[in-house]
Amino acid sequence: MASAAPGPAEQARAVLVASGKGGVGKSNLSLNLAIAARRLERRVLLLDADVGLGNAEILAGVSAPLHLGDVLAGRCTLEQAVVGGPGGVDLLAGGHGLGELPPVDGLRWRHVLGQLAGRRWDLVVIDGGAGVGGPVRPQLLAARELLVVTTPEPTALADAYAVIKLVAAGGQGLPPRLWVVVNQVQRAAEGQAAFARLASVCRRFLGVEPHLLGLVPHDPRVREAVQRQVPLLLAAPHSPAARAVEAMARHLLGCPPPAAGGLLAYLARLWPGRGAPPGREAAGGPVAG
Ligand SMILES: Nc1ncnc2c1ncn2[C@@H]1O[C@H](COP(=O)(O)OP(=O)(O)OP(=O)(O)O)[C@@H](O)[C@H]1O
Ligand SMILES: [Mg+2]
Repeated sequence: MASAAPGPAEQARAVLVASGKGGVGKSNLSLNLAIAARRLERRVLLLDADVGLGNAEILAGVSAPLHLGDVLAGRCTLEQAVVGGPGGVDLLAGGHGLGELPPVDGLRWRHVLGQLAGRRWDLVVIDGGAGVGGPVRPQLLAARELLVVTTPEPTALADAYAVIKLVAAGGQGLPPRLWVVVNQVQRAAEGQAAFARLASVCRRFLGVEPHLLGLVPHDPRVREAVQRQVPLLLAAPHSPAARAVEAMARHLLGCPPPAAGGLLAYLARLWPGRGAPPGREAAGGPVAG
């Protein structure tokens, strides 16, 4: 007897990471968010949906014989194309420098998403392409949960608004749950102000309420990690950007923050009124969430 189709409760939570403007940091965020979620004991699949232009393999330093293009073309199942990635994350590559690719239309994309149902993952992080056209459009319109990445620059914010406008008017039932990450911020206040501007126009003109998942500081360690092809969370786990992404994963998954400060905080509590130990003062710098 054929097994019953999995109900909604059995379907993996899938978060599409998108942006209007390209190069804002989606692929690095997707990879590191996936690793951070794995550290929080979730079974995670990183699905590189930027088919033909995939970066996940390069950033993760792995090579995959099969990719999303093969799944879209029906040459293999999604499960067959998945490889083990860094930090215990599973990876479905997007492929790059490929020849002819099947078009990503709504039907094919829904078929890919359908293959996630009832599988072993608790969370699927989908690294999408930039913009609102081409293969990105059906992915945006099918998303139940969308994480829009922007930088504080007005051009990136305007393009993030265009993405949110598309899904708000998607006409396919309820708009998706909307998260925003402001990446490459110089100061927390700059990132907060950028989010406030975006949220205000979304509320006023689209009637939707995005949630701030967090701010990621501009951090030279991100570029170093890319150069080394080692994910930031493994290459520089204590860097400001890595810590910000970890805090975001906690926020996304509803996990409480870790016990504050470990040994240093314990020692500070032993000497109340003396302030934080040198070098650990509240810097007023960028924060997540
Ligand atoms: N927080 C950060 N601090 C400093 N540099 C960053 C940060 N995030 C991203 N970058 C830089 O931006 C580059 C582009 O990042 P990434 O490839 O993740 O963007 P993307 O949005 O996926 O691009 P595309 O639209 O082409 O897919 C990185 O290689 C890195 O050099
Ligand atoms: Mg990318």
